[in-house]
Amino acid sequence: MKNLLERFYLWLDKRFNLTPLIEFMRHKQVPVHRHTVWYYMGGVTLFLFIVQVFTGILLLLYYRPGADSAYESVRFIQNKVGFGWLFRSIHSWSANLMVFFIFVHMFSTFFTRAYRKPRELTWITGFILLALAMLFGFSGYLLPWNELAFFATKVGTDIAGAVPLIGNAIKVLLRGGEDVTGGTLTRFYGIHVAMVPALFAMVLGLHLLFVQRQGMHEPEYTAKLPPEKKKVISFFPSFVLRDALLWLIVLNILLYLAVFFPWELGTKADPFAPAPEGIRPEWYFMFMFQTLKELPAHILFLEGEVVGILFFSVAGIVWLLVPFWEKVGLVEKNQRLMTIIGLGVVLFILVMTIIGYVT
Ligand code: HEM
Repeated sequence: MKNLLERFYLWLDKRFNLTPLIEFMRHKQVPVHRHTVWYYMGGVTLFLFIVQVFTGILLLLYYRPGADSAYESVRFIQNKVGFGWLFRSIHSWSANLMVFFIFVHMFSTFFTRAYRKPRELTWITGFILLALAMLFGFSGYLLPWNELAFFATKVGTDIAGAVPLIGNAIKVLLRGGEDVTGGTLTRFYGIHVAMVPALFAMVLGLHLLFVQRQGMHEPEYTAKLPPEKKKVISFFPSFVLRDALLWLIVLNILLYLAVFFPWELGTKADPFAPAPEGIRPEWYFMFMFQTLKELPAHILFLEGEVVGILFFSVAGIVWLLVPFWEKVGLVEKNQRLMTIIGLGVVLFILVMTIIGYVT
């Protein structure tokens, strides 16, 4: 058997020159210091994405897009398909946990300054993954065609419509017309199961390639140490085994949530019914939604909502360009300022989210 495997490996090696790659993996090391724990957050996010792909494909086998069939097909998955309720529940919980861990991973790379040269493109591809993950969530929310999702999508696309100049075009493009209809549902379906997964897979491939090529960043205080004083572990098997253990723990938490707090389906959307009380977006949009609500109707000569949208658009671009702030001398000398800005952003998101839920 071993002989057969060896021969197969040699056969592949001759064609694809695998040996340098294997050598690279064999010698790859991961620095150990008091912030090493944050190195695992990207891996947990990756695991949850794999869960999403797996459960998403299973749901796809029974889901039928369309205003007359979507809700019924999800009810069928819930009540008739063996373990359908479980896979739907895992898919929904895992989506939320994935976004949560993307935030944890993003802020941990921010506070440990992992975005610095030469990892600018790792940060930028990461930011694109965050945007795509939010689009995943937004498009998936509508698919069961229930009341809550229907009205939340109406509000969400209305907000997009308030963007100056291009807003209406975006709204019509997303909705496939003036209103949220079965046509919107088919669009969101296409976005959710084809467009975003394809883009996500490509950008994720780049993100992981960059991380593999460059290795993990080291904090300044260990980077300065001579090589013999540095603590490291091997990537394979030590780091990978620790990763696997954590994935197993996360899988347990996920199953616990999915079984004991199964995802509700709610009532079917009725486009002619009045909007129910307390329509809310998903929690990761809440800080933006609440900020827009808090703004006065008019600020100078602009509508408050428009000012809010412009603010978030500019803030998004500034955040995308984090690795270049130092280049333009913004925070070159004062690293503490960088930490204060980061803490300010976290605090703002937390406070706005809490206000959104308690008011
Ligand atoms: C689905 C989304 C994402 C996945 C699956 C993912 C995955 C990973 C993995 C596996 C690593 C290596 C281990 C680690 O440092 O945790 C990594 C590193 C990194 N990621 Fe992500 N990531 C995602 C989103 C993001 C986001 C939103 C950002 C920031 C905007 C980001 C920025 C970085 C940076 C700067 C590193 C290098 C860390 C270092 O060298 O210490 N990633 N990512």
